[in-house]
Amino acid sequence: MIVSFLYLFQYVMILLNGQVPIAFGGTEEPVAYGELISIGGLGPSVNGNLSSTIAEILETKLSIDSSRFYIKFYDAQRSFFGYNGSTF
Ligand SMILES: *[C@@H]1O[C@H](CO)[C@@H](O)[C@H](O)[C@H]1NC(C)=O
Ligand SMILES: *[C@@H]1O[C@H](CO)[C@@H](O)[C@H](O)[C@H]1NC(C)=O
Repeated sequence: MIVSFLYLFQYVMILLNGQVPIAFGGTEEPVAYGELISIGGLGPSVNGNLSSTIAEILETKLSIDSSRFYIKFYDAQRSFFGYNGSTF
C-alpha cells in the first residue's frame, strides 16, 4: 500500500495495491506496507499518531495485525515534489 498525504484534501492521493505477494517475518499472513509523503507537517508526534490511526484501521477493516505493518514517512521539499507540470 502506498499512501501519499498532503494537508489539503484536494491533494490527497491514496494508492492501494492488494495484488503484491508479501512475506514478512517468514510468513505470508496478512501484512501491509505503507509510504506516506507530505510537504511538511510530519514529525515524531504526528507520525506516531498517524501510524497508530492507520494501524487501527488496517486491524479493524482488514484484519492486519499492527505488528505486521510498516509505514515509512517522507517529508518532501516543495521543489522535490512535481505536480501539474511543475513542482509545489
Ligand atoms: C497525538 O495523539 C495524542 C493522544 O491522542 C494527542 O494528545 C496529541 O495531541 C496528538 N499529537 C498530534 C501532533 O496530533
Ligand atoms: C495547472 O497549471 C495550469 C497552467 O500553469 C494552471 O492554469 C492551472 O490553474 C493549474 N491547476 C491547478 C489545479 O493547480
